[in-house]
Amino acid sequence: MEYSFRVAELFPKEVSLVGNDLIPVNCPGLPHLGVQVVKDRMSQILETMGRASAEAQQLHSVITNTEKLRTSVDQKIYFFCDFSSNQVVGLLKIGKKKLFMFDLSGTQHEFTPMCILDFYVHESRQRQGCGKFLFEQVMREEGIPVEHFAIDRPSDKLLNFLRKHYNLAKIIPQVNNFVIFDGFFANRSDYAGKKNRWRGLDQDQTPDIQRASTFTILEDSSDYNNQPGIHLRNGQSHIPNFVPRRHNTTIGEVLQPSQNGSHDHHQPERSISSYARHM
Ligand SMILES: CC(C)(COP(=O)(O)OP(=O)(O)OC[C@H]1O[C@@H](n2cnc3c(N)ncnc32)[C@H](O)[C@@H]1OP(=O)(O)O)[C@@H](O)C(=O)NCCC(=O)NCCS
Repeated sequence: MEYSFRVAELFPKEVSLVGNDLIPVNCPGLPHLGVQVVKDRMSQILETMGRASAEAQQLHSVITNTEKLRTSVDQKIYFFCDFSSNQVVGLLKIGKKKLFMFDLSGTQHEFTPMCILDFYVHESRQRQGCGKFLFEQVMREEGIPVEHFAIDRPSDKLLNFLRKHYNLAKIIPQVNNFVIFDGFFANRSDYAGKKNRWRGLDQDQTPDIQRASTFTILEDSSDYNNQPGIHLRNGQSHIPNFVPRRHNTTIGEVLQPSQNGSHDHHQPERSISSYARHM
């Protein structure tokens, strides 16, 4: 998305963070532009990018805009910019949520995981490594491995993305709107105990994850809509066929597009500046 102002005045780095004060962290233009101008410009970006993201995902309503960010405690957005073309290329909105998640044995556990709430790369830049670049930066900044995220109703594109770049294909079926993968329960610091339906959380118990062979395995993207336990962004959802046991308690790396529009996965990774020259 292009803007009439210089995005470099708002964002200090290619990947920059904005919280609910609507002012990018370390905003370089803040001293001379002032708070209101910075907020107005951020608002323009949020509105256009949020609308584009909703359209790309065929959502009935916008899930990212100025008002939603301003009023959401615990949510933040990383924006990916290409300063050379003065464009905002993508966004990744994340936030912590208290969730009760089932492991493969059907035991429910309480966590407050970081969730992927919105993820969008402009159409003209998709499938060129921008999404991976942005995602890698966010994981680095947040210090969270990919398998520890919970994803709010992923699109089939995002499922493809996670499978391709991070080999995440084993989904642990849930009954809420979130998708988690194998590895979600391992080595977590935000574990709050097993959920006991009648007596509340039993904090004394430690995670005791038993692996049953009931992963939903993602193999063919054309079949995602028919997979059990996945709640997709386009509104279709598939409840897993089991009854839970409630009583138990820098610049990163991008792919190189080739001349004919496809891209070669085995090319060496490039910097964002070289990436921008191809746009
Ligand atoms: C999902 C998204 C953010 C990924 O960003 P990106 O810049 O395209 O990602 P990368 O270039 O780093 O990775 C490309 C991989 O993502 C997946 N992907 C991206 N676009 C895809 C599409 N149109 N169809 C299927 N898979 C797609 C594929 O695995 C692709 O690898 P491939 O081209 O070899 O098949 C981007 O495609 C997007 O904005 N999509 C529309 C909005 C959306 O669905 N967001 C997810 C919300 S939950």
